[in-house]
Amino acid sequence: MSQFGVIGLAVMGKNLALNVHNHGFSVSGFSIDKPEVDAFAKYEDDKLTACYTWEDFVASLEKPRKILIQIMAGRPVDETIKKLLPLLDKGDILIDGGNSNFHDTTRRCEELAQSGIHFIGMGVSGGEEGALNGPALMPGGDEEAYNEVAPILEAIAAKTPEGRPCVSYIGPSSSGHYVKMVHNGIEYAIMQEFSEVYDILSQVAGKSNDEMSEIFDSWNKGLVPSYLTEITTAVLKQKDDLTSDHIIDHIFNEASYKGTGNWMLEDGVSLGAPISVVAEAVIARFMSKATTRQEHPEVTVKEDTPELIAALEKSLQLAQAVAYAQGFQQLTMAAKAYDWNLRYPSIAQNWEAGCIIRSAMLKDIENAYEKDATISVLFQDPYFKSLMENNLPALRQVIAVAASAGLPTPTLSASLNYLESIFNDNLPANLIQGQRDYFGAHTYKRNDRPGTYHMEWYEEK
Ligand code: 6PG
Repeated sequence: MSQFGVIGLAVMGKNLALNVHNHGFSVSGFSIDKPEVDAFAKYEDDKLTACYTWEDFVASLEKPRKILIQIMAGRPVDETIKKLLPLLDKGDILIDGGNSNFHDTTRRCEELAQSGIHFIGMGVSGGEEGALNGPALMPGGDEEAYNEVAPILEAIAAKTPEGRPCVSYIGPSSSGHYVKMVHNGIEYAIMQEFSEVYDILSQVAGKSNDEMSEIFDSWNKGLVPSYLTEITTAVLKQKDDLTSDHIIDHIFNEASYKGTGNWMLEDGVSLGAPISVVAEAVIARFMSKATTRQEHPEVTVKEDTPELIAALEKSLQLAQAVAYAQGFQQLTMAAKAYDWNLRYPSIAQNWEAGCIIRSAMLKDIENAYEKDATISVLFQDPYFKSLMENNLPALRQVIAVAASAGLPTPTLSASLNYLESIFNDNLPANLIQGQRDYFGAHTYKRNDRPGTYHMEWYEEK
């Protein structure tokens, strides 16, 4: 009998199953795709069983059964649950490890609770390599069920530099998939920030791919140690195997997406979360497809100074902090709206290793929320406040250079605008309120006395 089962043996499911097996647990694997099961069967031993039917798979598992569904998000998950339900017993645990939309997870939690089946919606980050060697896991749902599977999840998860597992119970219902969605929104934001910095380095500073690769490598050892810095270094120096050029110069500049970043924006809009950097990152991907690709005037502003390079490093560090800050800000708003008790230090810890947005800064974020979990804006924390004060002049300088060169900087500019706004008690929204009241009698509040007011506006003839 196996202690754990995995449905879906494409690369993520297979690697997660092997990871479970490599940590000494017995595991069964099943897929409706026979060649996937054949490939999995090659690893068979006394602790790994490949199953070809739903019945054999379910029968091979110890009770309560612990089953990870690792397949394409959407309808296939509902179809899989429908197939499994008649074969399961009350108390069995289903875990959906796909990038499911959190609304689907809410519904599935409710539906399965009626059948006495525990459901965990779990974000999994780290790609193929992470799945095999240590992903970051974001499980939400039934806490009792989480405690049953915790020993296995803690064993297979990535470990922080201090050796703590990158998994912890996130909260009830769909909160795990929600946190993964926010992870992906932050991922979109930081990736777009890197692209803008790359654009300035290349077009304004005139750096070659190899020079840029070295610059990012030095930042990885400097102010921006992160997985995305690491892979940017690698992507920029990679040579093409069809030509002798760098591959980056032959990659078509149209960004694809499967939509999880867009979902964060959708829910952010419904919550009123000021996640401008994520919004700009999502829209930058749309723009890469929407551009009419007409000739853009050549960049004539050239500046290749150590000061600009240093300002770019500081800007990237600060913009990265804004991306995280906006993610956590949306989480605090979602926790309130959906009545989830989210533990922000644990979420930061879950992201410290294994996932795509892992970086040294997440430890500072963990510390910030450990000190004060009630902050709504990360930059209220003294460490991040001083990071903001130190790096803001650099970000202003970079935006000015890019603007005079005619280069778009949607996320870097949004980061700057966020920081210029978030502590500003003098934003010009008073004029908007005046206009709303003028044309629609929408009322306004005053800054000198309580209550709600409407002005009998009159126009000078
Ligand atoms: C991860 C990633 C992953 C996601 C890809 C692609 O955490 O491992 O977030 O889950 O699917 O990053 O996302 P897009 O296709 O939307 O860019």
